[in-house]
Amino acid sequence: SDIEKGTYPHYMLKEIDEQPGVVRKIIQEYSNPNGELSIDENILTAIKEADRLYIIAAGTSYHAGLIGKQYFEKIAGIPVEVHISSEFGYNMPLLSEKPLFIFITQSGETADSRQVLVKVKEKGYSALTITNVPGSTLSREADYTLLLHAGPEIAVASTKAYVAQVAVLALTAYVTAQSLGKDLNFDLKQELGIAANAIQTLVDSKDDLELIAEDYLKVARNAFFIGRNLDYYVSLEGALKLKEISYIQAEGFAGGELKHGTIALIEEGTPVFALATQEYVALNIRGNVKEVVARGANACIISMEGINEEGDRLVIPKVHTLLTPLVSVIPLQLISYYAALHRRADVDKPRNLAKSVTVE
Ligand code: G6P
Repeated sequence: SDIEKGTYPHYMLKEIDEQPGVVRKIIQEYSNPNGELSIDENILTAIKEADRLYIIAAGTSYHAGLIGKQYFEKIAGIPVEVHISSEFGYNMPLLSEKPLFIFITQSGETADSRQVLVKVKEKGYSALTITNVPGSTLSREADYTLLLHAGPEIAVASTKAYVAQVAVLALTAYVTAQSLGKDLNFDLKQELGIAANAIQTLVDSKDDLELIAEDYLKVARNAFFIGRNLDYYVSLEGALKLKEISYIQAEGFAGGELKHGTIALIEEGTPVFALATQEYVALNIRGNVKEVVARGANACIISMEGINEEGDRLVIPKVHTLLTPLVSVIPLQLISYYAALHRRADVDKPRNLAKSVTVE
C-alpha cells in the first residue's frame, strides 16, 4: 500500500522517487473533462475578488509559499505577502481591504498555522487551505481547500509535499491568470509534464548525487546554499533539508547577500551549493561562486541545460524558467539524504523533530 516502505530502506527515498508521479497526478486531478487545467469555481472567484493574498505557513511549506508569491504576482498580477505562521499572531501586518488568506500545510494540523486561521476567521476573513490531508483541521476550518494529492508523507523531512505545493500553487496562479484574461505565453499543463520528466531524470541519477554528497559533505561541519530569484527560495529549502536530516549546519541565502556578512565564514574546503537555473541572474550567481572559490570554498554549481557552463557539477534538464523549483530541489533532497546516510543519521525520524507540530 501507499504507506509501506516496500523495498525502500527509508520512506524519504520512496517519497523522493514518487515525485514525478505526484506532479502527473496533480495535472490529472486538476484537469477538466476538456483536458484543461482548472480549479473549483468558488475558489477561483475568491482569489479574483481578493485585492491581496496572504500566504501563511511554516517550515518547508513556508518555502513553497515564497515561490507561490512569485507565481501569483508574475503570472496572475495579484499582490501577495508571505508570512511565517508563528510570527503572524503578534506581527500582524496592516491588511488590505479584501484579503484572502492562503494556508499552506502538508499535514493540515500545524498549531502555529491554525492559530492564525482561528484569528482571521474571527475577523471575518476568508481562508483557503492547501493541504495534503483531506479532512485535516486546517482544511475543515477554512472556507476552501485545495488538495495536494501527494499521497501520505511519512518521512519527517518533507519532499513530495513540497513539490506538490509548488505545482498546485503554479497551477492555481495560472488558472487565475487565464480567468482574468491575462496574456499567457506558455502552456502550463505541457510545462508541468516536462518538469515531471525532468524530475524523473534526476531521481534516476542517484549514483551521481550520492557521489556529490560524498565529495562535498563527507567531512563538512557546515554548508552554504546560494541562489538568486527563484533559486534563492530553493536554496532555503536545500539548507533546511540538510540541517533536518544530516545535522550539518547549513544556511541558504541570496547570492547578493554573500558579501554582506556570510562570506566571512568561507574557509578552505567549505561546501557551497550554488543554484544557477535562472538565466537572468546566471552571471551574477557565477560571480558569487568565483568569490567563494577565491577564498577556498568547494563550490558545487547546479545549473540547467541551455545556460550551463563547463565545470558545472550537475546540469538539470531544461524546464520552464518558472518551474525550476520543482526540479532543482530534487538533487538537494538526494544530496541531503546521502549526507545523512553517510553519517548514519536516522533519516526518517531525525532527532528533535516531529512530522506535524501541534504545539505553538
Ligand atoms: C514540521 C515538519 C516540517 C514541516 C513543518 C510544517 O516542522 O517537520 O517538515 O515543513 O512542520 O508542516 P505542515 O504540515 O504545516 O506543512
